[in-house]
Amino acid sequence: MSRKKILAGNWKMHKSINDARNWIRHFQGNRKGVLHVDILLFPSYTTIYPIGKEAIKANISLGAQNLHQEEEGAYTGEVSGKMLVDAGATWTLVGHSERRILFAENDKQINLKVRRALTSGLQVILCVGETLEERESQHHQEVVRRQLTEGLSEIHHDDLHQIIIAYEPVWAIGTGKTATPQDAQEMHAFIRSEISSFSKPKIASSMRILYGGSVKPDNAKELFACPDIDGGLVGGASLKPETFLAILRAF
Ligand code: 13P
Repeated sequence: MSRKKILAGNWKMHKSINDARNWIRHFQGNRKGVLHVDILLFPSYTTIYPIGKEAIKANISLGAQNLHQEEEGAYTGEVSGKMLVDAGATWTLVGHSERRILFAENDKQINLKVRRALTSGLQVILCVGETLEERESQHHQEVVRRQLTEGLSEIHHDDLHQIIIAYEPVWAIGTGKTATPQDAQEMHAFIRSEISSFSKPKIASSMRILYGGSVKPDNAKELFACPDIDGGLVGGASLKPETFLAILRAF
């Protein structure tokens, strides 16, 4: 099964509208024919709408980094799936470890967010991954299995093609430590077999699974060469367009 590769940049809480526009212009001007990879960017909420036109011209899809699980209501400070679609987003991240850890999101809430995103018309990158303690105590597969089964609970098989999984081991995010290609490949194959066990082998083999956690130009090639790694979700190294382009060339 050939799966189209993806390179996604999660800008977290960085960049003004102007910085974002300049980034896209630089990227577009230097992409040089690397068109066989889908490019997704996750800027701040406030940047999505203003950069929409530039993103379309540059063949970049935009997503949000989070959404609220309710359709609408008295939830001061929150943003709904419908609002994101209205602003031009076609994707959203759900369950990023920074949301799980810093904002106490649990698997139940994450599942509600995934379902709300789908009913709002957004495609989803569901992030999973273990902490260092969980890996060192050999619980990493159990944790990721729980995050997957609970995060994707009550989602119909036919909707799974709207979802991408990102495996982001917490200990590799922003730390400069990357999973070895062997460890990352092992977890990606495990994720695919778990998806197969609760859906269908055909769905699991067509699902794209991204690696995230200190992806850099010098480690991207080895990671992306692994058979079950379909691309990357890049944080820090996505902030400069030259570095992101260097990672793109690793495909
Ligand atoms: P870094 O690439 O900075 O480690 O961040 C990864 C990440 O959290 C992407 O969502």
